[in-house]
Amino acid sequence: MRQFCGLHENGPFHGETASTAARYPSRPMAGTGSHTYQAPKGTRDFYPSDLAVRRHIEGAWRSASIDCGFDEVEGPTFEHLELYTAKSGDGIVNELFSFRRAGGENDYALRPEFTPTLARMVAARAGSLPVPVKWFAIPNMFRAERPQRGRLREFVQWNVDVCGVEGAAHDVDVIACAVLALERLGLRPTDVEVRLSHRVAIARMLAALGVADEKTGDAMTLLDRRDKLKPEEFAERAAALGLSADAVARFDTAARATQRLSEPVAALAAKIGVPEAEFAALDEVRAAAERAGILEWCTVDVGIVRGLAYYTGTVFEVHEVSGAERAVAGGGRYDGLVELFGGPKMPACGFGMGDVVLANVLRDRKLLPEDGATLLPRPDAFVVSAGGETAEALLPSLLMRLRRAGLHARTTTKTTKNVGKLLGDAGKARARFAVILGAELADGNVAVKDLDAGTQAVVPLAELESSLHPRA
Ligand code: HAM
Repeated sequence: MRQFCGLHENGPFHGETASTAARYPSRPMAGTGSHTYQAPKGTRDFYPSDLAVRRHIEGAWRSASIDCGFDEVEGPTFEHLELYTAKSGDGIVNELFSFRRAGGENDYALRPEFTPTLARMVAARAGSLPVPVKWFAIPNMFRAERPQRGRLREFVQWNVDVCGVEGAAHDVDVIACAVLALERLGLRPTDVEVRLSHRVAIARMLAALGVADEKTGDAMTLLDRRDKLKPEEFAERAAALGLSADAVARFDTAARATQRLSEPVAALAAKIGVPEAEFAALDEVRAAAERAGILEWCTVDVGIVRGLAYYTGTVFEVHEVSGAERAVAGGGRYDGLVELFGGPKMPACGFGMGDVVLANVLRDRKLLPEDGATLLPRPDAFVVSAGGETAEALLPSLLMRLRRAGLHARTTTKTTKNVGKLLGDAGKARARFAVILGAELADGNVAVKDLDAGTQAVVPLAELESSLHPRA
């Protein structure tokens, strides 16, 4: 667990009473010799073109959520520490940024995930919320991980969750929402896939292989680590679960077993050598995915068990098909969490999708522009004064008039009266129309140039708004 106090990552730990200067030591950072400031490791500065990319991704997330019937929620950026130590699992607990208010006694942590907050919020109002509770959120998250490709210390994570309903159809409801957003961003099943499994099916498979009940958790942890361990080490640890040599071999096959969700589970069961009935839960997911029309996006992957400690049923991750990137998203069913936070017994299912890996995949697939600035909103009108006191006097109020009409109106700060140069600026600003306040003003008119079509018309000033077509 990484601890810090106040704003400075290297500040003193809990309970110290130091002067402000000592609490926030001024630390020279790498620079040109004079004192320079850098953003903390693993965080990002979003300049306009960077933020335009993020908003583009968030736009697809938000529109998919709303179209699938989810309402947006938000929670605090930090929570009581025990909200995470209760059930998130070691992976997340070891990556917490935790802290105490100076002189305070409560431990807090910056949110590393949204699910505990959501479960706490649902638990607090469970009696009055309409069921199913269908919520989405787009919060920023903090994890003290080693920054690397696909992993930062602050990132944005889209969360989509449904609470109060059981069954594969609802698991698929959230997966379908993820698929809709991926489609809207231009991705296809040839680019990314939903790799899924079911913890109940896996527990039954493990029992059929001879894993004792009390070792199920260890066996799932081992499945989760299959790609991180050498084959010999994996086999050694599987044997330590009390498995026979034959069962170790079948466990190894299972850990790497994948097949399209559209294929019958009998094939999977035969490959691993366990009865088909153990995979009945996956059959239900297949039927629901088929009904929802997302079957082609889905693959069964027996090695997906998910590290987080609260999952109880269907579990899934979205991956780039070649496996080159870390997971784009992860989620599953967590039927016990709302109750754990003081609510009634309430089943729930959902996922989190981060912006970092997703942006990498979109960039690799050329689904993001080279220059994010092209995603910035285009001005409807770029108003220029072609000289004359009347034009200069009119400009500020005309801009405000257009803005009051809901139009995105800009102008230039250049003093040149060279209309060609001013139109060049309008083009650079990617405006749809240039409005030229020139000699026509004497007759109550302005020139309007359609910068996309290259055409120009003289328009009565009083009718200007209607000649600037509404935003596409
Ligand atoms: P998670 O698998 O820990 O699940 O995270 C979900 C996604 O968040 C990951 O697949 C990845 O895209 C992104 N992510 C996680 N850590 C980082 C990081 N350090 N840098 C960049 N991106 C990251 C959860 O958080 C669950 N609470 C999801 C959930 C919601 N389950 C049910 N509802």
